[in-house]
Amino acid sequence: MPQPYSLLFCHAAQVLTLAGGPSDKPLTGADLSEWRIIEHGYVACLGDTIAAVGPMGELDAGRIGPETRIVDVSGRVLMPGLVECHTHLVFGGNRADEFQRKLQGESYLDILASGGGILSTVRKTRAATDEELLQSALHHLEGFRRYGITTLEAKSGYGLDAETELRLVHVAQEAGRRQPVRVVPTFLGAHVPGPEYKGRPAEYLDMLAADVLPQLDPAAVPFVDIFCEEGAFSVADSRRYLQRARELGFGLKIHAEQLHELGGCQMAAGLGAVSVDHCDYLTPAGAAEVAAAGQGRTVAVLLPLVPLYLRQEKYAPGRQFIEAGLPVALSTDFNPGSCPSKNLWLALQVACLKMGLTPREALAAVTLNAAWAIGQQASCGSLEPGKRADLLVLHVPDYRELPYWLGENPVAQVVIGGELL
Ligand code: NIG
Ligand code: FE
Repeated sequence: MPQPYSLLFCHAAQVLTLAGGPSDKPLTGADLSEWRIIEHGYVACLGDTIAAVGPMGELDAGRIGPETRIVDVSGRVLMPGLVECHTHLVFGGNRADEFQRKLQGESYLDILASGGGILSTVRKTRAATDEELLQSALHHLEGFRRYGITTLEAKSGYGLDAETELRLVHVAQEAGRRQPVRVVPTFLGAHVPGPEYKGRPAEYLDMLAADVLPQLDPAAVPFVDIFCEEGAFSVADSRRYLQRARELGFGLKIHAEQLHELGGCQMAAGLGAVSVDHCDYLTPAGAAEVAAAGQGRTVAVLLPLVPLYLRQEKYAPGRQFIEAGLPVALSTDFNPGSCPSKNLWLALQVACLKMGLTPREALAAVTLNAAWAIGQQASCGSLEPGKRADLLVLHVPDYRELPYWLGENPVAQVVIGGELL
């Protein structure tokens, strides 16, 4: 006798399964929009796992028992929990003062070169206690959860010395243990050269590779990231550092082609990076090179709220990336400088408006492809039996309303690991 379901959502107007594409690589091209939607459907959970998904007509009544909690979601959309695949979760203070400067016309790189930007957050982060950083991270995680984020990547990168960078990783891990959103830590010690290494970026990277990376376990901190940009690290230095990280067993990520076209995305894809992030200056021809070098597995993580917030006109040409065969994901890039927003729905909407994604493509980009971008595709990103029961009940009856209600949070209920929160 199969066990009765523990939790059953029934009569959903639409179930966005995100299922139906290839299972061995992220979605791109037509697959990005051809995943399955079930009209008038159900999702059944057994403990922390999805047990069955289908149209109401196929629901096995024999698996409904007295212990089954039944939730009628008539007139609502069910979908997988959102996967937020690029955040700088842990930092001290904020940069509301610099926002004023930006509004008066100063550029992001000018503010950084004057000792502000990332470096001003580094000063505040170094001065904060572990407990202060933890409380701030928990506050932000709570905000993400209300937007329906059930898995979230969290980068270090505001310590820029060995000790503080390790503290930031530990705070992210502790924050993951203290609340239900799953946290996947990434090491971004190579955000910009630490202030003690001004003008000596290669020496700073050597220090990280020799003193810090060996102290991290790739099983617990799966990715190493670097910011490849003018004022941060060159393509050549980034390549050497990422190669060393790869030798130590880490997966690779890069912030590249954010403000200039340097070739960082192609370089990282050639090293097998799991994602290349920002890509606003990546051309369609460059995207085809990334798709080829990454063998269809390197995901371009697009961050549409960043050019919006930095008052830049240039947005990654997402539509052309998809046509070039490059898998895309979307994220907020939540951080105190270039995007202090946790509203991944708004990122999805701006991606439709400014990057040419269709609503279906954008939904795949905040679920299954975002899961691929952080190596979590086996456990989340779609509603399929065997995956973790992370799902959302939305206030709307049709997915086409999701990019339409600009700035709104459509989340009615969040389920993480089979727990209705
Ligand atoms: O992803 N581009 C580099 N790093 C962050 C911004 C960090 C900051 O300004 O504090 C980003 O946009
Ligand atoms: Fe970032």
